[in-house]
Amino acid sequence: MKSIQSNIKKAKKYLDKKHCVAVPTETVYGLAGNAYSYISIKSIFRLKKRPLNNPLIVHYYNINRLKEDCYINDNFIKLYNKFCPGPITFVLKLKKESKISKFVTNKNKRLAVRFPKHPIFRKLLKNLEYPLAAPSANISTRLSSVQASDVKEEFGSKIKYVLNGGKCQIGVESTIVDLTNKPTILRFGGLDILKIEKVLKKKISIITNSKNKIAPGQFPLHYSPGIPLRTNVKKPKVNEAFVLIKKRKITLKNYYYLSKKNNLKQAAKNLYSLLRKIKKEGYKMIAVEKIPNNGIGKTINDRLKRASKY
Ligand code: TXA
Ligand code: MG
Repeated sequence: MKSIQSNIKKAKKYLDKKHCVAVPTETVYGLAGNAYSYISIKSIFRLKKRPLNNPLIVHYYNINRLKEDCYINDNFIKLYNKFCPGPITFVLKLKKESKISKFVTNKNKRLAVRFPKHPIFRKLLKNLEYPLAAPSANISTRLSSVQASDVKEEFGSKIKYVLNGGKCQIGVESTIVDLTNKPTILRFGGLDILKIEKVLKKKISIITNSKNKIAPGQFPLHYSPGIPLRTNVKKPKVNEAFVLIKKRKITLKNYYYLSKKNNLKQAAKNLYSLLRKIKKEGYKMIAVEKIPNNGIGKTINDRLKRASKY
């Protein structure tokens, strides 16, 4: 307990000095910086090698703090009350008087915001005088980090501090819903869109393709382990690692299970670390069996499809 508090203090010290710090969230680790400071924001883009036109998500402790920066609406309040803190990101209209650095949104007047659930991250946010911009803590187009050691693999000593919060509970990024107009899903994620539709009592359109200029980060190649990956495979080639979700009678050396019991939540939690592990073991190609396309399975399939564009 004491060490958690002193770690949070350490993270705050670096952030106050406008350095970037990696933070744990319930979805994936973030590379965080003061959202009001262009110095912090520019160093996030530099460290990630991220194009400046790909906007960042800003993380808040609660709705009161958000109101200083964004206009809220009825759909937002319904979803906030039901799911926050949790794995959902909202795109809202930015207020003129907001102090958010214009580099966060590439001068756009719409801001993506999120209220993360991880207790350590929440404690940190509560103690800060500013919200935190935080993209996933990985080099652009690569696999996101789901534990502190992944972040170190991605950035080495280039970042000042990693606030360790253990392994991420969900393991894939938040679901993004644009609420600036008619609600639209911009990214599949940790929260099932059926649950969002249930709260809003209507069907929501989904625009997650690369032509979508609204979320430029949804590029075709993304979430890549850095080696070729194919999906919906029935039988792997001899030199391929084979990623499975259903238990087979016979397990060969190159078989890797996302989940032992065909559990999709478990599979999502293990997805990125398993792909990382396979790459580290020296495989040059990955084959993945068909993953059921329901619930968080839709998010897994979205990530695999993008990873396969290598
Ligand atoms: O779970 C998550 O959302 C993680 C954790 C760290 O919070 N963050 C994350 O951030 O996944 P990032 O930067 O890796 O992905 C954010 C996505 C990008 O595709 C970006 O283009 C989109 O959100 N985005 C950010 N701001 C936006 C905006 N104003 N309008 C539309 N899309 C936006
Ligand atoms: Mg990312």
